[in-house]
Amino acid sequence: MTLSVDPVKLRTSRWYDGRSRDNYIHRSWMKRGLPDDAFEGKPMIGICNSASDLAPCNQHLRDLADFVKRGVWDSGGVPLEFPVTSLGEAQIQPTAMLLRNLMAMDVEESIRGNPVDGVVLLAGCDKTTPAMVMGAASVDIPAIVLTGGPMLSGRHLGQRLGSATDVWRMSERVRAGSLSAEAFLATESVMTRSAGHCNPMGTASTMAAMVEALGLSLPDNAAIPAPDARRRRLAHLTGRRIVEMVATDLRPSTVLTRSAFENAIRVLAAIGGSSNAVIHLLAIAGRVGVELTLDDFDRIGSRLPLLANVMPAGEYLMEDFFEAGGIPAVMAELADLLDAEAMTVSGSPIREQWQGRETWNREVIRPLDDPLIPEAGLAVLRGNLCPQGAIVKPAAASAHLLVHTGPALVFDSIEDFKERVDDPDLDVDRDTVMVLRGCGPKGYPGMPEVGNMPLPAKLLASGVEDMVRISDARMSGTAFGTTVLHVAPESTAGGPLALVRTGDSITLDVPARRLTLNVDDSELARRGAEWQAPPPVADRGWYRLYVDHVTQADTGCDLDFLVGASGSAITRESH
Ligand code: FES
Repeated sequence: MTLSVDPVKLRTSRWYDGRSRDNYIHRSWMKRGLPDDAFEGKPMIGICNSASDLAPCNQHLRDLADFVKRGVWDSGGVPLEFPVTSLGEAQIQPTAMLLRNLMAMDVEESIRGNPVDGVVLLAGCDKTTPAMVMGAASVDIPAIVLTGGPMLSGRHLGQRLGSATDVWRMSERVRAGSLSAEAFLATESVMTRSAGHCNPMGTASTMAAMVEALGLSLPDNAAIPAPDARRRRLAHLTGRRIVEMVATDLRPSTVLTRSAFENAIRVLAAIGGSSNAVIHLLAIAGRVGVELTLDDFDRIGSRLPLLANVMPAGEYLMEDFFEAGGIPAVMAELADLLDAEAMTVSGSPIREQWQGRETWNREVIRPLDDPLIPEAGLAVLRGNLCPQGAIVKPAAASAHLLVHTGPALVFDSIEDFKERVDDPDLDVDRDTVMVLRGCGPKGYPGMPEVGNMPLPAKLLASGVEDMVRISDARMSGTAFGTTVLHVAPESTAGGPLALVRTGDSITLDVPARRLTLNVDDSELARRGAEWQAPPPVADRGWYRLYVDHVTQADTGCDLDFLVGASGSAITRESH
């Protein structure tokens, strides 16, 4: 279909429409193979591409961009691909989260400053998807997301191998002495079998699912495996669709409503999604002015059942999940709980994404009346150890530890933890509560995924499989364990986590949503008066900007001055 779009409605008319010297320059420099009529009312579509050799989960986005371009041409638009910062979760140090907001800023300014009428956001690896959405939401021109899709399932010696999830599992077995290092290393090339992002319901799959549940992508985007030809087809359709969105001025602010976020939180619970989604959804909501709080995740999602039998909470992988019906099938199960009228980038209510969709494998996507776990959404904890909240993922935790009291064993940094955890003389047993601090947004900086601290080797060897762990860090969406995460305020900001001492009693009570340091107030006040803030971890550059302005986990770890939107208007000419 070729759309005829009135040139005066196009944002790019500012660049191209007219006979001035500036219009001449803008057209002439862009006219490298484009015919004259490309500048006469055709929508210019930016393809915002986070493909990078250094973000291996996103490498194949170059190929998908070509299929998006076909779709854009198909609909009468002009595709213009441009690169943005990319973040490879498994590669970039000290943690990709430190750079999420930098990427979001790059996306925002690249879109705003350039002659584009709409954008296709190509993302995949964990932080690249939220960063794209945050940046595009702050500009608010028509935008649609296409993620790269999950890798094919790994298989080794007849066993299904989940990327990252099975790395954590096997490395613990090596430390426990029940798996040889050789057997562990033999799985290295199987772990990442194809193009695509991690194949459990880790952060990348979760954020792709959130994008779909928010209505920011075409249906099935989250689960089609990366190498499946249907993802190229989806890319083509996405390219077609963005041109239509420009014609109707369908922008992120129309899609990203309070209802859309509530739908996403419900889907998050039903798929056993990553705890990282809390931080990212809060940050995205902040960009569009939707009032979303940490407590909304508990109130809306925590009592919902787990339907997706996908690692790390279940047994299967995203390839199985796609074949079972994917996100539309999960939404069909949840239909009575969702706002069916929430608008999507398809230009229709979200109910059209799930109507007529069936579940093809009840082992992988369970029915609402026979779930994997009856109450599986993220629980938000409060108490004197986390005045601004903390979260725990019951679906990834051990049932017998959801109510637990034990003595604290405190580690002041991840380095301190690594140095001492396997000391045979470490005073620790299965009831100990391991506490890690100095790993929050300001303290690390960047809030790394180290909250799922490996268990002490001597306990692993004696058969202990889980312990209560508490930190101001995050946890990989592919990981598991009874881990209390995102404690706010973080210790570096003077939160009570800074005052815990080894031997203090701590009580975790997930059903009551409480996390309590069993030390009386007067003693805590005395410790607080003695506490000294650690020296700053950065004195220049991005680190400095980040540490000075990052917000705490309970509000999404955005930079305080990036919350909100600046719109797409440009007020000055470049020449
Ligand atoms: Fe990229 Fe897991 S490392 S999605």
